[in-house]
Amino acid sequence: MCGIVAYVGHRDACPIILKGLKRLEYRGYDSAGIALMNGDLSVYKRKGKVSDLEEFIVDKDVHGHIGMGHTRWATHGEPNDVNAHPHYSSSKRIAIIHNGIIENYAALKTLLLEKGHTFQSETDSEVFINLIEDIQQNSKCSLPEAVRLALHEVVGAYAIVVLSKEDQNTLIAARKGSPLVVGIGEGEYFLASDATPIIEYTNDVVYVNDFELVVIRDGELEIRTKEDVVQTPYVQRLEMALESIEKGGYPHFMLKEIFEQPRSILDSMRGRMIAESNHLMMGGIREFENKFVNAERILIVACGTSWHAGLVAEYLIEDLARIPVEVEYASEFRYRNPIISERDIVIAISQSGETADTLAALELAKSKGATIFGICNVVGSSIARATDAGAYTHAGPEIGVASTKAFTAQVTVLSLIAMIIGSKRGTLETTKLHQLMVELESIPAKVERALLLDVQIQEISATFKDATNFLYLGRGYNFPVALEGALKLKEISYIHAEGYPAAEMKHGPIALIDEHMPVVVIATKDSSYEKIVSNIQEVKARKGRIIAIVTEGDTTIPAMADYVIEIPETSEHLVPLLSVIPLQLLSYHIAVMRGCNVDQPRNLAKSVTVE
Ligand code: M6R
Repeated sequence: MCGIVAYVGHRDACPIILKGLKRLEYRGYDSAGIALMNGDLSVYKRKGKVSDLEEFIVDKDVHGHIGMGHTRWATHGEPNDVNAHPHYSSSKRIAIIHNGIIENYAALKTLLLEKGHTFQSETDSEVFINLIEDIQQNSKCSLPEAVRLALHEVVGAYAIVVLSKEDQNTLIAARKGSPLVVGIGEGEYFLASDATPIIEYTNDVVYVNDFELVVIRDGELEIRTKEDVVQTPYVQRLEMALESIEKGGYPHFMLKEIFEQPRSILDSMRGRMIAESNHLMMGGIREFENKFVNAERILIVACGTSWHAGLVAEYLIEDLARIPVEVEYASEFRYRNPIISERDIVIAISQSGETADTLAALELAKSKGATIFGICNVVGSSIARATDAGAYTHAGPEIGVASTKAFTAQVTVLSLIAMIIGSKRGTLETTKLHQLMVELESIPAKVERALLLDVQIQEISATFKDATNFLYLGRGYNFPVALEGALKLKEISYIHAEGYPAAEMKHGPIALIDEHMPVVVIATKDSSYEKIVSNIQEVKARKGRIIAIVTEGDTTIPAMADYVIEIPETSEHLVPLLSVIPLQLLSYHIAVMRGCNVDQPRNLAKSVTVE
C-alpha cells in the first residue's frame, strides 16, 4: 500500500508533492510526510491525513526544488508520527520513503544494531535506509551504488525514493513489486506510485520495472538494473484526462463513480462489439483464441470485488461457453499447491492491477505453464504487465476505496469474453448471441434509469441507517451481487452484513432473522424467480424486514416485501450490471448518513499491495 511522490525541477516542490499525495491518499491515509532539500534535508510528518500534514507545516519553511512525500497504510508499526515516512538514516544524512514490505527486516535490523545504527521507529523502511547508509559507509561508494547494492540484500517488495543532503540535485528510486512511474516534464521530473499526481504536468511517463534503479541527477534520467546494466527508458504517452481524477461537483468520488457507470460500461465495450452484424472482437483474446476455445478449464484469481466479478464470470462462461470455471481467492490459491496444467487458462482480475495476492497467484500459475489472461483497469499496472495477454476495462480512474464502476466494467468485459468463446466453440447459437449483444448494448441506458432510483434509495437508507446487521440474498447470477452488496455496506458503513445464496439461508443464517433484521433480496425475473419467491416467504414468516430488488412491473414480490426497488428488465446473464446499482447507492447513502468517510473507510486502502 502507501503512496509515494517525488519531484525535482524548476518549481517549488512542496505544493506539487502535497497535491500528489492527496491524489494518492486512496492508497493509504493513516499518516503522511514530506522531505525537502533546501540546503538541509528537512523531514515533516504527521499521523493522520495529508490535510493534517498541511496544517502542521503551515508555519514552516518548506521551500525547495527537490523533495518527496508519502502517505501511509501501516504494516510495520502503528500509525503515529514516528512511524510515518520519510525516515532518516541514523546519521540523518539520507532519508527514504517506501511502499512495500521488507520481509527480512528483523534480521537486517539485528545486524545493523550490532554495527551501531540506531532506530526511532518500528518500521522496516527505517531498516532499509540504514542498510543503504551502512553499505555506503563500508564500501565508500556513491549513494546510487549503495542503493543498488542494498537491493541485493533486501527480500520483499518496495518502491523507494532516497534523498541525500549531500547531493542536493539527485533523486534516487527503485522498484520491486510495488508500482513506480517516472513523469518527464520540461526540465523537471516526477516520481509517483501511479500517474495521477503526474498528469497535470506531463503525459510522458516511464513505468519502472522490477529490479530497476532510477537516478535523476542534474536534469538527466538514468535507469539501470540491479545488476548494473543501463536501460533505455521506454517513454509512453498517457491518455488520461485531469477531470477523470477530480470529483467534478460530487461530494464523494464513490458517488461520482456510481453515476459514471452508464459511460464506463459503454467504454468497456466500445470497439469490441457491433450487435447489428453479430461482430465481437477483443484484441487480447485473438492471439489466444485457440487456447480459450480448447481450454479444459478456466481458473479465475482475484480478491474482493474483483473476485465477485469473477464469480459472475463463472456463471457466464459455464453457461455460454460450456467450459468448467473455478473462481479462486488469490490469497488462498497461491499458498495451496494448486493443480495447474498447461491446458489451463488463468484469468487474473484486478482493478488496480497491483493487488499483491493476485499478482502472486498469477505468477504461480505462470510458473506451472498456464496461459495467463489479465483483466485490469489501471493501464501499465503490474498485473497487466505480468500477463500473457489481457483486456483493459477502460472504466477510467477509480479513486473511491469501495469499488463500483470497476465491478460493472469487469462484468461487461467478462460477458464479452464468455460470448466470444461461446460463439467460437459453437455452444452459443447465433440467435441467442445476437439477443445478448443487443441487450448488452442497451445496458448503459438501463443503468441510467436505475440511477434515477437514487431518491427512493435515500429514503430507504434513512430507515435502515442504524441497523446493526444486514443480510443480502440472491440466487444464480444475483448471488455474486448479494456478496458484493454486503461487502459494499460493511466496508464503508461498518455495519455487519452477510451475502448468502438465498437457498443456503435455511442451513444456518435463517436463525438470525427476526423483526430487526433487514434482508435485501435480489429477486429479479429469471430462471430462479419462483424459488426466490419461496425464500422471501421464509424470511417473511420470521418477520424479517424485506427490501426487494425486483424487475419493473413485478406484482408478486411487491405484495410480500416491505420495500421494493424496481430495476429495468434484462437478460439474466447481464442482470448483475443492473441489480448491483441500487446496492451501491444503498451502501453509499447509509454510510453518509452514519457520518462515515465514504471514500477513505477506516483500515482500508484502495490497492492492497501486501499479502
Ligand atoms: O484492485 P483489485 O481489484 O485487485 O482490488 C481487489 C480488492 O482489494 C478490492 O476489490 C476491495 O475488495 C474493494 N475495497 C472492494 O470495494
